[in-house]
Amino acid sequence: MNTNQEKTAVVTGAARGIGRAICEALLASAYRVIGLDIDAARLSKTGFELGDRFSGITVDLTSAPAVANAFSTIDAVDVLVNNAGTCFMNDFVDISPDEFRKQMAINFDSAFYCCQQALLLMLPRPGIKKIINISSNGAYNFDVFDPAHYRASKAALDNLTKHLARRYAKENITVNSIAPAMTRTDLFDVVDEATLAKALAGMPRGDAMKPSDIAAWVSFLASPAGECSSGNVIILNQGRDVR
Ligand SMILES: NC(=O)c1ccc[n+]([C@@H]2O[C@H](COP(=O)([O-])OP(=O)(O)OC[C@H]3O[C@@H](n4cnc5c(N)ncnc54)[C@H](O)[C@@H]3O)[C@@H](O)[C@H]2O)c1
Repeated sequence: MNTNQEKTAVVTGAARGIGRAICEALLASAYRVIGLDIDAARLSKTGFELGDRFSGITVDLTSAPAVANAFSTIDAVDVLVNNAGTCFMNDFVDISPDEFRKQMAINFDSAFYCCQQALLLMLPRPGIKKIINISSNGAYNFDVFDPAHYRASKAALDNLTKHLARRYAKENITVNSIAPAMTRTDLFDVVDEATLAKALAGMPRGDAMKPSDIAAWVSFLASPAGECSSGNVIILNQGRDVR
């Protein structure tokens, strides 16, 4: 139970990678942070390392009842970061219906369900509340390897960003997407070495961004300075696609 006026951030996919870096950044910005993840062991390790202003909830975010159950244990939400996601790498004609559904479920359905639950807890809170969706530059850049279902899941996420930004503007809730390009995490393991090397060489500085680079932008949006931005997709790619 949050007994003082401390603001609460909920971060999905918190156990590792960009999500974990976002948790660290928001803890440093004086939020208490609740991290949701399907990986119980990794979440518990992360919780131990991040300290007692972080608490973890193990949940499969692709299940609407499981998401509702997780949020029923949360008393307040001021910031929701929908970061959980993955990238399945099959070529278009080889994508099975099951893989297609899983891709959309992890990257899009999870955010949809979390927004529904979080909004109910945000509406009665004072001040400006924020939803920040972690999209991908892959929804917009067609030179890089990203597969069709991954791109589509992130394009759907960015459409949800715009819908909710418009719908809840007068209720003091801002909604933005951050769409990073190559960021060094364990997710790099989904591509083979040659594909990865080519994608990294395409970055203007010849290397990937760091999870903390993305987390700093989340922190900015979560700060008072972020209050006047809503409905935007902020692309982070070191200027790679400027032509
Ligand atoms: N790494 C990149 O280059 C990159 C680039 C653009 C966008 N992104 C996006 O950033 C986000 C984070 O990516 P990352 O690189 O840190 O990935 P990651 O694989 O390192 O971490 C993803 C986290 O999400 C969790 N997760 C997966 N499925 C889940 C489920 N069903 N329920 C709950 N939790 C689940 C995983 O357990 C993991 O902790 C993703 O949405 C990804 O699409 C990453």
